[in-house]
Amino acid sequence: MKQTILVTGASSGFGLLIANKLHESGYHVIGTSRNPDKYKATLPFKLLPLDIADDHSIASFARQLFSEINQLDVLINNAGYLVTGLAEETSVELGKQQLETNFWGTVKLTNELLPYFRKQKQGKIITIGSFLGLIGLPNVAYYSASKHALEGYFKSLRFELNQFNIKVSMVEPMGFKTNIGENAIASNGGISDYDVFRQKMDAYTKKEFDKAAGPEPVVNTVLKIMNEEDPKFSSPVGKGSSVILTLQRFAYSVFENTILKRVNGAQ
Ligand SMILES: NC(=O)c1ccc[n+]([C@@H]2O[C@H](COP(=O)([O-])OP(=O)(O)OC[C@H]3O[C@@H](n4cnc5c(N)ncnc54)[C@H](OP(=O)(O)O)[C@@H]3O)[C@@H](O)[C@H]2O)c1
Repeated sequence: MKQTILVTGASSGFGLLIANKLHESGYHVIGTSRNPDKYKATLPFKLLPLDIADDHSIASFARQLFSEINQLDVLINNAGYLVTGLAEETSVELGKQQLETNFWGTVKLTNELLPYFRKQKQGKIITIGSFLGLIGLPNVAYYSASKHALEGYFKSLRFELNQFNIKVSMVEPMGFKTNIGENAIASNGGISDYDVFRQKMDAYTKKEFDKAAGPEPVVNTVLKIMNEEDPKFSSPVGKGSSVILTLQRFAYSVFENTILKRVNGAQ
């Protein structure tokens, strides 16, 4: 029997690529978008409405999902967005919205689907975190906080779901070319003490986005996890990820100074 895979945020970026690839590989794919009508006609897989920042949307989505399917094999928590801006210059409101979607939205959707997974006594939950859930960088404090929070949450959940044969994993991509930059929400600045650093940071961020690689390695990592009997918890993806994590662990000041040097040298 065909496995059924749910991919949240399947209208763009990683989610779109993952959903397309799984559909082509013969899986029964269900994707989600806040505006499915905008994309439906061009996609070969089913797209259902879901806004993970809206409790009612999550509840009605789950009702619709399970009126259409009897079994869910894999949940791919991919939906999310990026808030950029220096921490002190970013309003707490913007920060709360970031966590409301990236952390709480992902947690609430997972919780809504868990009773079905437990009943089945099998399943996989793969969450697209971020390399910024493993390290911190300037200009992305709330995004980084939302992704660090996911790491902690799913580490705990993995222990608890082990008894039900439900496997919990995370994928932590570095920067890859998707629409995340275009869809990002930037805070407005406003504290003149930060003017020089902010300009350098903007130049550094632009450089990083420009040199980002295509998203295929992330898609391949998700597919690998799907096909493993006992996938590991964490899968960082991206050039130099292991070196950076080793530096952070064993030589934090080297890691920190390298980042500051790069930001200060950007223009
Ligand atoms: N690109 C990177 O470099 C990178 C690196 C690390 C982690 N990530 C993570 O990868 C995931 C996918 O991002 P992407 O890079 O592919 O960006 P993207 O191209 O902007 O795609 C984001 C997807 O998330 C959906 N989405 C956003 N807010 C949502 C909400 N409130 N409810 C439901 N769906 C929502 C969007 O769907 P609709 O607008 O159609 O609703 C869209 O399909 C995110 O979790 C992101 O944090 C990306």
